[in-house]
Parts: sequence; structure tokens; C-alpha cells
Amino acid sequence: MIPLLRRLALANIIANVAIVVTGGAVRLTGSGLGCPTWPRCTDASYVPNAEMGIHGVIEFSNRMLGWVVGVVALATLVVAFLHHRRERTATSRGLSRLALGVFLGIPAQGVVGGITVLTDLNPWVVGLHFLASMGVLVAAYALWRRSVDGRATRTVLPGPLRQLVQVLTAVSAAVIVLGVIVTGSGPHAGDADAHRTGLDPEIVAQFHADVVFLLLGLSAAVWFAARATGSRRTARAALVLVAVELSQGVIGFVQYFTGLPEILVGLHMLGACLVWLATLSLLWSTRGAHDGRREAVGGAAAGAEEERGLGELQLDQGGRAGVVGHQVDPRVEEPVAAARHGVEGALGDGQLRG
Ligand code: HEM
Repeated sequence: MIPLLRRLALANIIANVAIVVTGGAVRLTGSGLGCPTWPRCTDASYVPNAEMGIHGVIEFSNRMLGWVVGVVALATLVVAFLHHRRERTATSRGLSRLALGVFLGIPAQGVVGGITVLTDLNPWVVGLHFLASMGVLVAAYALWRRSVDGRATRTVLPGPLRQLVQVLTAVSAAVIVLGVIVTGSGPHAGDADAHRTGLDPEIVAQFHADVVFLLLGLSAAVWFAARATGSRRTARAALVLVAVELSQGVIGFVQYFTGLPEILVGLHMLGACLVWLATLSLLWSTRGAHDGRREAVGGAAAGAEEERGLGELQLDQGGRAGVVGHQVDPRVEEPVAAARHGVEGALGDGQLRG
């Protein structure tokens, strides 16, 4: 059942990113009333007719995708609950809670969407709609990673490096919040007649870009620090994040200096989702808490195993050590097992404990 849950979790991520982009297409092409009624598209039909043109098609596609997102989330919830009923473990409980979170994101988005209409596309509420999608992505991403990683693990990573990644995550969220404020202040907020935030778009865009530079600097710092401490998984995730940020930054500058063409603004929305997912991937690579003793013992063992190119040493919930991120070559498994045994033996009972 876990492989199915894993695929469904991934489908949730893809579907939620897709609906952000198609929602953006509805806004950017002025197709908000492409289908003038709901749930039907016209009084006579559920689908748009030829006279409604491209606006009808765009609005209708977005509505259809909304249904797909709902069905995928419901299927995920059912599978996660069935899995939990069979397994009854802390992990299966965690998975079903995350699936519930993803599913509840849909009615929550429905409420925010309704308030958006009732407030005549108030830019703060429109922005909240985007940010709520980022929240759903957090739950969907955690669900996916948990179903991939299996048992929750504790990565052996120096505390300050973990804190640096947490700060970076907060800065990444700030960049996204500032981004939606820029949008709410500029030409693409709601529609042509919608209110704006009243803030100067140039000043907010400048601030948005400034915080992007801070984010880039932090990401590069994490990459160097992760390499210095032999945390390959974190270094890899930081490098991917830097690459995604650079691409997104280029789109940001080009759209700014070319008068915000719709196609680039749409691409920038997709890029924002990818930056957020890359940030979550980096955060996930440092997941877990561990204290000084475990760090000291685990750090030494992790170093030894890293040297051998066997991936990273992690501690599971029971405090047992294990290597992740790499298939262990059977030719070298034995010496590593012996080294691990030595570390565990140093604690007396064969377990790494806090
Ligand atoms: C890590 C890099 C970046 C991220 C994650 C990011 C994120 C975002 C987000 C989430 C939005 C709101 C999208 C929407 O609601 O439609 C936005 C809008 C915007 N961003 Fe960025 N951005 C980044 C880099 C940049 C850079 C370097 C610039 C350069 C000035 C820039 C300029 C803009 C502008 C002008 C808008 C408003 C577009 C509109 O009118 O709809 N962004 N950004």
C-alpha cells in the first residue's frame, strides 16, 4: 500500500503546483468569468461553447483541475487511512494525518476563494489564496517524503547547520510573501478594476529582490557548510536550491524590466512553487532532533561512513543507527557494520542513546 500512497502523494504535489499555474493563467488572461455560472459553465451546459473563446477554455480547464486535485486528495486520504488501519504504527498515523491535512486544504482554499470574490478581489486575500497553496504543498511534500523514507529518521547534522537551514526556510517564505505583495501592488493584481495594496510596486519589488539576494547568500552558505561537515544529502539539496533560485531570479528580473509580460509572470509563479519545494527538500535533508551525545557519537560514525562514500548515517526513532542515501556495496558492508558495531558498543547496550 505504501508504494501507492507514495505515488498519490507525488500526484498531490504535481496537481497543487499545476492548479497554482492554471489559477495564475485565469488571472493573467482575464478569464475569471470565462464560465459565467457555477457549477455549470453556462446555464445550458457544463462545458464551454465555441463562442466563449479561449477565456471559457482556460476557466473551464482550471475548474476541471480543481476536481482532479480534490479526487487525488480524497484517494490519498482513503489509502492512508486503510494503511493505518492495517499497520497501526506511529508512522502510519503520521501519514494519515498528513493526508488529512492535504485534503482539508481543499475546503480551506474554497473558503479563501469565496472570500476573494466577496471582497472584489482584495489583493491581500488573493495573496492569501496563493500562500494557502504553499501551505498545502508543505503537507503534500511531507507526506511524500515520509512515504519514501519509511520510518522517521534523525539525521546526524551539526545543530548550527540545522538552524541555518531553518533560518533559510523562513527567508524563503518571506520572499514568497513579498512576491504576492508585489503582485497585489502591480498591474496583475486580481483584474484590471481590482483594488491594489496601495504600496509603491517599485519599492516592494526592490525589497522582494533584496530578500532574494539574502536567500541566495544563505543557500550558498548552507552548501559550503554542508560540504565542510560531510553532509552530502544536505549539500546536494542546497545546490539544487541555488540552481532553482538563480533561474527564478533571472525570470524575476527579466519580467520586471520587460513590463511584466503575462507569460513570464506565469512562469515566475511556477518558479516560486519550485523554489518552495526545493526549500522543503533542503529542510527535509536536515530533519530531526538530536542532542549533544548522539551528535558526538553519531557525527564520528557519520564521518567514517561518509569517507567510505556510503551515504549518511541516520538514527531512527529507536535511536538505532543506519545509513541512508546510498545503496551499500556488499563488498564494503562488512567493515562498515563492524565500525558501527564499535560505535554502538561504546555506549554499552548496542544502541545510540541520548
Ligand atoms: C527566489 C527567487 C524568487 C521567488 C521565490 C519569487 C517569488 C515570487 C512570488 C511568489 C510572486 C507572486 C506571484 C503571484 O502571486 O502572481 C512574485 C512576484 C514578483 N516577483 Fe518574484 N520571486 C523571486 C525572485 C524575483 C526577482 C529577483 C525579481 C526581480 C525584481 C522578482 C520580481 C517579481 C515581480 C516584479 C513580481 C510581481 C509580478 C506580477 O506583477 O504579478 N522576483 N515573486
